Amino acid sequence: MMGKLGLQSVLFLVVVHILVVSAAADIKNLKIWPMPLSVSYGHRILQLSNEFVLKTESSKYPDASGILKEGFSRLLDVIKVAHVVDANASYVGPSPVLKGIQVVILSPSDELQYGIDESYNLTIPDKGNPAYAYLTAKTVYGALHGLQTFSQACHFNFTTRTIEVHQVPWAIVDRPRFSFRGLLIGHSPSLSAVACDIEEFDDVTRSIPMPVGSTSWHDMHTSYFLLITNTLNTPRICSMQNVLHWHIVDTQSFPLEIPSYPKLWNGAYSSSERYAERRGINVLAELDVPGHAQSWGVGYPSLWPSKDCQQPLDVSNDFTFKVIDVILSDFSKIFKYRFVHLGGDEVDTSCWTLTPHISKWLKQHRLNGTSAYEYFVLRAQKIALSHGYEIINWEETFNNFGNKLSPKTIVHNWLGGGVAQEVTAAGLRCIVSNQDKWYLDHIDTTWQDFYSNEPLTNITNSEQQRLVIGGEVCMWGEHIDGSNIETTIWPRAAAAAERLWTAYDNIAKNPNQITRRLAYFRCLLNQRGVASGPLTGGGRAAPEDPGSCYEQ
Ligand SMILES: *[C@@H]1O[C@H](CO)[C@@H](O)[C@H](O)[C@H]1NC(C)=O
Ligand SMILES: *[C@@H]1O[C@H](CO)[C@@H](O)[C@H](O)[C@H]1NC(C)=O
Ligand SMILES: *[C@@H]1O[C@H](CO)[C@@H](O)[C@H](O)[C@H]1NC(C)=O
Ligand SMILES: *[C@@H]1O[C@H](CO)[C@@H](O)[C@H](O)[C@H]1NC(C)=O
Ligand SMILES: *[C@@H]1O[C@H](CO)[C@@H](O)[C@H](O)[C@H]1NC(C)=O
Repeated sequence: MMGKLGLQSVLFLVVVHILVVSAAADIKNLKIWPMPLSVSYGHRILQLSNEFVLKTESSKYPDASGILKEGFSRLLDVIKVAHVVDANASYVGPSPVLKGIQVVILSPSDELQYGIDESYNLTIPDKGNPAYAYLTAKTVYGALHGLQTFSQACHFNFTTRTIEVHQVPWAIVDRPRFSFRGLLIGHSPSLSAVACDIEEFDDVTRSIPMPVGSTSWHDMHTSYFLLITNTLNTPRICSMQNVLHWHIVDTQSFPLEIPSYPKLWNGAYSSSERYAERRGINVLAELDVPGHAQSWGVGYPSLWPSKDCQQPLDVSNDFTFKVIDVILSDFSKIFKYRFVHLGGDEVDTSCWTLTPHISKWLKQHRLNGTSAYEYFVLRAQKIALSHGYEIINWEETFNNFGNKLSPKTIVHNWLGGGVAQEVTAAGLRCIVSNQDKWYLDHIDTTWQDFYSNEPLTNITNSEQQRLVIGGEVCMWGEHIDGSNIETTIWPRAAAAAERLWTAYDNIAKNPNQITRRLAYFRCLLNQRGVASGPLTGGGRAAPEDPGSCYEQ
């Protein structure tokens, strides 16, 4: 799978004062988050050149779409932040200057998809004339992870007003443990108040007419975009979460008028998709049926069982499935990720059994509420399969009729622990999001809880272990708005991210051993404009004391 790299093994031999970190216990002075697969570092300092350059000689990736160039320019931005860097670095004395970074990518393709190779190797020498960092990766997305790691070795020196690369020489070999590392952001109307000042995106959204009877579309998309912007620009977010799970359609939101503006719809959706993709983030779209779809009936009341009983969607009406088909057909043109999320959670079938025309239909088809729920989910699965998707469904579908689900189903756990064990024993794949540990809207859950949640708990069979494709932390929108979303997500999502990225043996058995490193990362987030909360307490806690952010 991976190519070869000579330089860092040479450095390995030459440098004497190297600390090889292979176990979580040795990481006291390491300031990288999440912890790489293997890392060694020294004690010297380099100056980052003011004309720090990107070199791509002998890379097979042509970068026609500019993904690498953009990633490099974002790297410079996050390293410099708002600091005024002295234009003349030559007076700082004896420290050698790091002139640039050479990036060698082995694959010419930049198709982003589930399971692509995200590995990278990074070395930063402590000498050389001129000295260059060296980054190799199989894909450009692995290289983006490497650039994020590089950025964490850089520090602004307030005395000299230059950027220093600390702890050189570095040699890092890294790849993620799980291939699905998700962050769910559920929409809420309160997020609509979030302003968006991103010009190019404004141009897209301004041209979209506001659907009648809906507050959602324009604002929802705007606020999402802002969230995407802020979260994706955070250091190494790319290497932590590689899936943004977009709960597009919910009880309160989703103007069903949208399919009548298909071109505009495509335009706006695909611009956010492209935005994410250029950062190595897959967008997972969710169409939560048959529950949580009340809003659909605002435009098409016949999708409701009745005016007084509005969800789940009318199972007896063929039009319901036609609409699902049309939406998934649109999705398949925009969301290229292998999976679509079909929800299937929290279905209360009493509106079906209580509404005369549906109850009659159930009798005709010898169905009751439970079996009609199964019928609905399986029929929706078939529609998704026909559009080339594999399906993710919430765990209630598995709990009720797991043996009937398509083998291409991935069961999304949320109700509690121990589910992945049952799902994988049944031969299906699983995503772990147990709400007691990985729901960000549970404010009382601490970062230590997030960090300690092991997706493979009690799964010993290696084949079953492979069926756990990863995990996702969930930020449901009911109790957040633009003022608190970042402090609710960070730093706890980062704690979960290390669990999902870092090799099991490198994960701290006691999270309190790594408080310093996470505190450092959260300060970095703050410096880079992400309003991460402190480590004390649960989500959105206030700092306990005055003083350095490293102490909170
Ligand atoms: C940078 O500083 C050095 C040492 O003070 C000086 O010799 C050199 O002329 C300066 N270069 C520029 C471009 O100002
Ligand atoms: C990274 O280094 C490892 C160990 O030396 C090697 O097996 C792998 O092929 C390298 N990967 C790349 C992308 O160069
Ligand atoms: C900043 O640079 C000065 C001069 O080289 C050095 O003495 C000092 O230790 C540096 N500060 C930090 C925080 O590294
Ligand atoms: C619904 O029907 C299934 C078989 O079709 C049956 O096993 C189940 O017990 C029924 N549920 C209820 C609540 O009657
Ligand atoms: C794992 O197994 C132990 C011992 O059987 C049990 O106490 C624990 O609850 C299980 N954990 C989960 C998450 O299922």
